[in-house]
Amino acid sequence: MRIFLDTANIDEIKSVMKCGVVAGVTTNPSLLAKEGRSDYAAVIKEICGLVAGPVSAEVTSEGFDSIIAEAKKLSAIAPNVVIKIPATTKGLELTHELRKDAIKVNMTLVFSANQAILAALAGAAFVSPFVGRLDDIGHDGMAVVKDIVDIYKTYNFSTEVIAASIRHPLHCIAAAKAGAHIATVPTKVLKQMMEHPLTDVGIARFAADWKGVCAKK
Ligand code: E4P
Repeated sequence: MRIFLDTANIDEIKSVMKCGVVAGVTTNPSLLAKEGRSDYAAVIKEICGLVAGPVSAEVTSEGFDSIIAEAKKLSAIAPNVVIKIPATTKGLELTHELRKDAIKVNMTLVFSANQAILAALAGAAFVSPFVGRLDDIGHDGMAVVKDIVDIYKTYNFSTEVIAASIRHPLHCIAAAKAGAHIATVPTKVLKQMMEHPLTDVGIARFAADWKGVCAKK
């Protein structure tokens, strides 16, 4: 499973990229708003300067033609830009249209396997089932991810599954076990994936023992 970073914070991306574990970035209008940025194209350009893998940018326009124009503008920023389109009937039409120009789509706000089947048929490069938001309303978000992965395997669909709306480290393990191609995770969760109290205790004990043996010399 690959890991994408789910953020629009440039400093976080710069810092995390040093670890060599992040293969892409996903953004959305709420993440931009959190950073107090309304210059979406400028943010995506900055991110593409830091990340060679897929960088998802969500359309914010309304109306078919305006969205197509916005998608073309965003995808012209860099070859690795992927356009996030919400999972609606209009979203399928947009995906089908953008595909003609070889513009990659990440169909977002996916909450069911049926939406994911149609996204794949329309030609989406990625689908993003929102695990945490399903869990929030008492549904099993990861079961939807697993269903989508199984269906895509059965029919050899090339669309990749991004487990999104990841809230905690257990979601990452479950996404990997469910066979998601990618999990897009907030920076906080990425850090939690690597943390373990026994590692910290072990480091402290090794350091103390080493100091002790050196002191005896
Ligand atoms: C994914 O592409 C979305 O940006 C993100 O995972 C949404 O997560 P949230 O439900 O925590 O807002």
